[in-house]
Amino acid sequence: MKIILDCDPGHDDAVAMLLACQHLEVLGITTVSGNVPLERTTENALKVVELGGIKVPVVRGAHRPLVREPHHALDIHGRSGLDGPELPQPVTPLHGQHAVEFIIDTVLATDEVRLVPTGPLTNIALALRLEPRLAKRVPEISLMGGSLTFGNRTAAAEFNIYADPEAAQVVFTSGIPIKMSGLNLTHQAGVGRSEIAQLRQLGNRTGTVVAAMLEFAVGAYAQVYDQDYYPLHDPCAVAALIDPSLIQFQPYFVQVMLEGPARGMTLCDQRRRGAPYWQEPNAQVGIKLDRKRFFDLLIDTLRQYP
Ligand code: BDR
Ligand code: CA
Repeated sequence: MKIILDCDPGHDDAVAMLLACQHLEVLGITTVSGNVPLERTTENALKVVELGGIKVPVVRGAHRPLVREPHHALDIHGRSGLDGPELPQPVTPLHGQHAVEFIIDTVLATDEVRLVPTGPLTNIALALRLEPRLAKRVPEISLMGGSLTFGNRTAAAEFNIYADPEAAQVVFTSGIPIKMSGLNLTHQAGVGRSEIAQLRQLGNRTGTVVAAMLEFAVGAYAQVYDQDYYPLHDPCAVAALIDPSLIQFQPYFVQVMLEGPARGMTLCDQRRRGAPYWQEPNAQVGIKLDRKRFFDLLIDTLRQYP
């Protein structure tokens, strides 16, 4: 399966990159401003590529959201965006194009390219606006963002959608089939001490680095949310494509709130099909993760890296 991974690394984005590159045909890794400013998400993507010996172009994208001021998550990911481990310095040069051009050119030139956004949806929205033919060319978007229930950046909103709600609205109204891995799902993929110990025991460099990454993120979640686990949000959006049996999805009409205290919320119509004013679903929303098989997949994947 061919994909473009659009990300803002980010600890969980880094794990999503490693997972995707072993199992899917990743045509490019595009970066966006999100967890930290664009220069740092791009640098981090290059470092993760270096860590894994991954031969995939890294392409820099949008430096800020469509409308609102940039909003970052330094409290969770640290100043670098990937605080915790020592990472190799990048050697691979950045791809010359802008991510939005890269997404358009790749999708027009190659059939059946799926998009996997794990950061704010700015690049995807810009690509859809610049090249309307994409809406018919992209068979599916599997994204991490939103929630059926609670938020994290606000009581109502999840970070990726909150950071660029207007872009999210463009994507959710594009007509492209969407798989949404939101917080209600990704909190079932929480890592704590035992998973980190398992990664350490792998004995390879990648396992040790990812363990250090996740240790930092678990510490941050303890401080910020008083929680003893870190949800591996972004790998869920990748896992949904690698093995569809890992996640149960249900169809919902999802609307992005653009104003007011619920700005950035993904409002999912939970009324029964056919109820008055019920709207045709525009997304498959992740409900239940097979946690054991998800972690087996992850550990086995990281074992295969240097
Ligand atoms: C999302 O926000 C970011 O901090 C993570 O990388 C993930 O994509 C979770 O709300
Ligand atoms: Ca992310």
